[in-house]
Amino acid sequence: MTGRIARPDDAGIAAAVELLRAESVVAFPTETVYGLGADAFSAKAIGEVYRLKNRPAWNPLIVHVADVAAARALAAEWPAAADRLAAAFWPGPLTLVLRRAPALTGVGADNDTIAVRIPAHDVALRLLAAVGLPLAAPSANRSESISPTTAEHVLRSLPDVPLVLDGGPSAWGIESTVLDLTTATPTLLRPGALALRPLREVTGAIALPDAVADGTNRPSPGMGRRHYAPKATVLLVDDVKAVDRAGLAAPVAVLSYETAGDYDAAEVLSGDPREYAADLYAALHRLDDAGVGTIIVQTPPDTEDWLAVRDRLSRAAR
Ligand code: TXA
Ligand code: MG
Repeated sequence: MTGRIARPDDAGIAAAVELLRAESVVAFPTETVYGLGADAFSAKAIGEVYRLKNRPAWNPLIVHVADVAAARALAAEWPAAADRLAAAFWPGPLTLVLRRAPALTGVGADNDTIAVRIPAHDVALRLLAAVGLPLAAPSANRSESISPTTAEHVLRSLPDVPLVLDGGPSAWGIESTVLDLTTATPTLLRPGALALRPLREVTGAIALPDAVADGTNRPSPGMGRRHYAPKATVLLVDDVKAVDRAGLAAPVAVLSYETAGDYDAAEVLSGDPREYAADLYAALHRLDDAGVGTIIVQTPPDTEDWLAVRDRLSRAAR
């Protein structure tokens, strides 16, 4: 391990700024999950993000900025809906996909778009203000594996990250909602921390690609079928008690929001979707650390409130 965890005091922020200005990378806390940050204008730094994460080159990065003016500067077009959404939800767990400004070449999708958000985390905002650069930052984990909600998760997944600013556990514990504003009707590319109901109050109708609704395919480049996956095999089932455990890789664990029963390991999370989401990745990390072979997961209800959690579980189970 070459990385170190630093307190986010003035010295920690200064060390992070120095690394970022030298076109290196720094992991930092956000309200959703920890991000692996790099100067969005530096091809070298961006390359390091892809290398450390083993992330496929076709999967674009979210750019984090300190204020709306910095977001506008990255976009070629700034629709009225972006103003309304930014006023309502930024800083916060909403990522907007917009037409990309020509100056920004290293990040963004092949289709000339850019994903951008203002994170609602004091450490992230202080870092952005101190460095004075937009920071491209995917979740700070190896590609396809569980996102980090603590500084320790980051170092375990990416031991070669030079520095992790420790902001404690992420409050939301699940990634931002990604909304595409380049389509006539705003399109949900990734369900996430921010629920659809408050979004619709601002934008009106939101298009939900089938791939989002049933978690099958790839609504945005990064939404691979297998993603957010622990090392253990994940079995997503309607009735945990009905599972025949013979033939499952041991030890067998259960992840549920009701009482667990007699298993080698158990994580019982809240029946409230927001609280469940906040604990989900930490629970999966704990089960992996315990070395379980199989995780039987009780499928949450098929309601919109559970959309983001169901999406992550379905991708973890492939
Ligand atoms: O909460 C979050 O969004 C966290 C924190 C660190 O901000 N970040 C995060 O980044 O989850 P990442 O790279 O793990 O996921 C970014 C998602 C991927 O599904 C990616 O394909 C999509 O956003 N994305 C990025 N740029 C895009 C673009 N221009 N068009 C469509 N999708 C895009
Ligand atoms: Mg990710």
